[in-house]
Amino acid sequence: MDKRRLRTALGRFTTGVTIVSTVGEGGQWAGLTVSSFSSLSLEPPLVLWSLRLESPSLAAFEHNPRFAVNVLGEAQIGLSRRFASSHEHRFGEGEWVLGGHGAPVLNDAVAVFECETVSRQDAGDHRLYIGRVLHFTEHAHAPLLYRSGHYHQLGEVI
Ligand SMILES: Cc1cc2nc3c(=O)[nH]c(=O)nc-3n(C[C@H](O)[C@H](O)[C@H](O)COP(=O)(O)O)c2cc1C
Repeated sequence: MDKRRLRTALGRFTTGVTIVSTVGEGGQWAGLTVSSFSSLSLEPPLVLWSLRLESPSLAAFEHNPRFAVNVLGEAQIGLSRRFASSHEHRFGEGEWVLGGHGAPVLNDAVAVFECETVSRQDAGDHRLYIGRVLHFTEHAHAPLLYRSGHYHQLGEVI
């Protein structure tokens, strides 16, 4: 299989952009930019996302079953870049507070899903997390989109 072409083909699938966050064992906040987020089930309410097995953030998500998925708006492209970089103080930008369910939440996100991990499975070089939604908020802000390695804005309704 031609890996480069596969990557190109997969990149044509357009996604939203989220920051998935939690609190690690020492109380430190952990989070990263994630586009593998997806809705899974309404009854019961389940979502999924996947994390690179080599991620330094893995220990925090293994320690704490509570996490939050913060869906980014088009004005939050800087946050997406920051949480995908090696920046040491990722939470130093944006209005972050500790949510009622034990994970950091972004105040002006398009949507926030506060979750509890109910299942994990390793698949290839990633760990798949399935979480039950405990609480959510949403706003009608325009979302940030990601396609083929570039950020995009939402186009017209067709
Ligand atoms: C738009 C976008 C989507 C991403 N989606 C994921 C993802 O779903 N899972 C993942 O493990 N990394 C994803 N990444 C990469 C991580 O955000 C990046 O490697 C980050 O530095 C990981 O944090 P860590 O160093 O704490 O592991 C994505 C990056 C970008 C820019």
